[in-house]
Amino acid sequence: MRGPIEPFKIKMVERVRILDQEQRTEAIKNAGYNTFLLRSEDVYIDLLTDSGTSAMSDDQWAGMMLGDEAYAGSRNFYNLEKSIQEVLGYKYVVPTHQGRGAEHIISRVLIKPEKNIVPRNMYFTTSKAHVELLGGEMPDVVIDEAHEPENEYPFKGNTDLDKLERVIIEKGAEKIAYVNVEMNVNMAGGQPVSMENLRKVRELCNSYDLKVVFDATRSSENAYFIKEREEGYSDRDIREILNEMMSYSDACIYSAKKDCLVNIGGFLAANDKEIYEKARNLVVVYEGLHTYGGMAGRDMEALSRGLREGTDARYLDYRTKQVRYLGEMLMEYKIPIVKPIGGHGVFLNALKFFPHIPREQWPSQTLAAAIYEGSAVRTMERGAVSRGRDHKTGENIFPNLELVRVTIPRRVYTNTQMEYVAESIKEVYENRDRITGLKMVYEPRDLRFFMARFEKVA
Ligand code: F0G
Repeated sequence: MRGPIEPFKIKMVERVRILDQEQRTEAIKNAGYNTFLLRSEDVYIDLLTDSGTSAMSDDQWAGMMLGDEAYAGSRNFYNLEKSIQEVLGYKYVVPTHQGRGAEHIISRVLIKPEKNIVPRNMYFTTSKAHVELLGGEMPDVVIDEAHEPENEYPFKGNTDLDKLERVIIEKGAEKIAYVNVEMNVNMAGGQPVSMENLRKVRELCNSYDLKVVFDATRSSENAYFIKEREEGYSDRDIREILNEMMSYSDACIYSAKKDCLVNIGGFLAANDKEIYEKARNLVVVYEGLHTYGGMAGRDMEALSRGLREGTDARYLDYRTKQVRYLGEMLMEYKIPIVKPIGGHGVFLNALKFFPHIPREQWPSQTLAAAIYEGSAVRTMERGAVSRGRDHKTGENIFPNLELVRVTIPRRVYTNTQMEYVAESIKEVYENRDRITGLKMVYEPRDLRFFMARFEKVA
């Protein structure tokens, strides 16, 4: 047996089509060579993101029918609150429509003009945007290994405690709004943080009296890696691990569209009562009343059930192994990928894939477009286009990691479809010398990767 065994069976299917070669060439050209601008119906296998793309279970769908659509005090809110208290261990819950809603609220609660530095173990696009829109900065304090695609360190998401302390001393502790730690770091390739590192970040922050806020978006997958790789955790239950992880923070923001197996939703959770009370006041202005925060009652119910389901050890084992199944096939074909294989997808190293394409011609963007054109598989650029320009100088920043993210939705695609994806990428790799780069012809100011347009260089 090659692929991982699915701990579910399929009750409902959705038809998909594959456009022919000519239609794909036309579709990607019309999309300005930006996979975000493709129409979903023109895509056969959609690996753009693992966000909001999960298949819900029969139990979650049953929960959708039990939506209590009251403006205030919905039963589903209390179910959600209880799930979060039990699975993650936080005391207080403020629902939001999705992760960036919670990012907005936490930024407004904790960032002040004179206190606007938010060190983080590698940026995420929307997280950084919220800090910068309030005039702040997000210095990178992830360990060096995270920037090295081939380095096989098992916890490449760890915060570098020396880098963090240097930022605190150089900027002044009074300037730090909070220290931000992301689980299973997305931009590094879905790389986990160790429990030991979380504990040490907490200790360091205690010694400077700083708040610690987690981006717990992919914390269940991170907990799986702790169980798999960290000494002392192999016999512990995923929820026990999650409870310990979260105990090292004052609050977290959470995009429920990933590990909670729902199509929409998010929240802010806290142990710190002051953060909670301020967040609860602001959520009413920006998202909705504090017992729905932009979600329908039925969405809260599906989320409440999905948070629990997503911590089932058998499910997490299958999930992680399916991602590995794809990654290992690509490695067999000698395709350069980020190692170790991460939690939510396989990340292609575009600099090695296309050594002949200069960085100013956007190798990752080119690769994502070429994969679509070849096979109707949609992936996402995660390199210089996503990174954006330096706020002060206006220059493009070219990060070490120039990647294409091949992100796997949860419980959606079969192992055979993973084989199709691997074969498709192999075909592009075999023809790589014939592929030329792109030039950017339209560039929005904020989060440019979503809507930028490109043309092929002659
Ligand atoms: N934090 C992390 C680590 C994320 O990956 C995301 C979203 C967010 C916050 C924002 O959450 O989308 O619910 O508003 N990541 C998606 C992705 C968009 O494709 O990786 P959101």
